[in-house]
Amino acid sequence: MTQNEKFQIKRRAVCRNLWQQLGGGPDAPVKLLFVALYLAGAVWVWSKQEAVSAYAQSVELLSPIMLTAMTHAVAAYLLLGGVALAVLLVYPFGRKATQDQLQSIGLANHAGMAPDLLRKKRDRDNPRVTVWEFRNQSIPLTVWEDKQAAIEAALDVTIIKIIFGKSKSRVLVYAVPTQTSLPEVLRWSDAYLSPDNFVLVLGESLTGPVAVNLANIPHILLGGSTGSGKSVLLKLLLMQALRKGAEVYIADFKGGVDFPKVWRQKCHMCFREDTLLYVLGQLVAVLEARKGWLEEAGCKDLDAFNEATGEGLPRLVFGCDEVAEVLDRTGRSKGDKELLAQIESRLATIARLGRAFGIHLILATQRPDATIIPGQIKNNLDFRVCGRADNILSQIILDNTSAAEQIPKDARGRFILGDGTVFQGYLFDEGQL
Ligand SMILES: Nc1ncnc2c1ncn2[C@@H]1O[C@H](COP(=O)(O)OP(=O)(O)OP(=O)(O)O)[C@@H](O)[C@H]1O
Ligand SMILES: [Mg+2]
Repeated sequence: MTQNEKFQIKRRAVCRNLWQQLGGGPDAPVKLLFVALYLAGAVWVWSKQEAVSAYAQSVELLSPIMLTAMTHAVAAYLLLGGVALAVLLVYPFGRKATQDQLQSIGLANHAGMAPDLLRKKRDRDNPRVTVWEFRNQSIPLTVWEDKQAAIEAALDVTIIKIIFGKSKSRVLVYAVPTQTSLPEVLRWSDAYLSPDNFVLVLGESLTGPVAVNLANIPHILLGGSTGSGKSVLLKLLLMQALRKGAEVYIADFKGGVDFPKVWRQKCHMCFREDTLLYVLGQLVAVLEARKGWLEEAGCKDLDAFNEATGEGLPRLVFGCDEVAEVLDRTGRSKGDKELLAQIESRLATIARLGRAFGIHLILATQRPDATIIPGQIKNNLDFRVCGRADNILSQIILDNTSAAEQIPKDARGRFILGDGTVFQGYLFDEGQL
């Protein structure tokens, strides 16, 4: 493309933009207000015209310009006010600077034109987030995404997502100021409990609450090094399951320190391997029974069955803190190994089939040993959450190293999901059970 062609394209684009800005656009209500004020002002000046003119004649030594302006007050108002109005309507306050910054990082089309900022507004769903709406000047979304880091530096923001607006000529950048950070502590309040079946909330990210619906993603794997906040998060989820009417089963092999008496009154606890095997056997038996009932009733899952029959069968949630301790067979006797193999096989059955029948696993671990949780269990734990972790643990839980890179070393209750969402978990304690 020749320089002349580029110039022609730019000139036409400038005319088009000017036309669009005058013709309304996103700031239309504010612009209409300016126009209304201008017209109201004109009427007011017109009503005072005679008085002002008479006053001007009576004053001595008035400069000829002032005298003319006051004698023809309406004309003077229309002229000067009109210029001011035009500036207010057309001048892109702050837009030029943004455009220059984007141009300087090379975000421009083949004619060298950078995106044009049309407006900035607060996100309706999350007041922390600002939505920057650009006319994207035919720059593909992939180019925006490739340049995300540079755009963040240029605009001094952290970008949450970049999407097309109403049409593909608009791009919306959802961002928070760089200084915005998650709170270190977010105390749980019952107001956060989700009214939806069967949604459990975990905490808050910069874009809003983070939740999981067990009806869609049935099982959860929580990872993180010691002190990262796994037990607190596990208990937060189990508490919500209880509140929503689920039956909760807890395996705790750490001597019961993490689950004081109040839990034992409300949940089925197991502290030994043989009772764990028994409990898992019961859960598998319930699973088999429900399978038969659902088949008979022709229902695809527990919710459909409950609705069709009015039965109200509860969901069953099995939580296990430090599952690697339970499943690790190193140094165990032959008899123990057989028992552990059976535990593993029952967990695998629930992991594979539990979703439709409302039986769920929430397993936590800090042991970065891939061989301990076998693939047939792990592959079915689709909702992955990782707290502070090293590369190996992060890789095991999330299949990437993002937890090691993005969770600060001293963070507690800070987690990251498989899709990269970082959130602060709600801090919950037993007093709130
Ligand atoms: N969501 C949170 N917000 C703030 N602080 C938290 C949060 N979760 C945990 N903590 C703090 O971190 C401490 C350790 O949490 P927790 O016992 O859950 O860690 P853990 O990962 O289970 O550790 P371990 O592997 O040693 O059992 C808690 O006593 C609490 O003080
Ligand atoms: Mg713990």
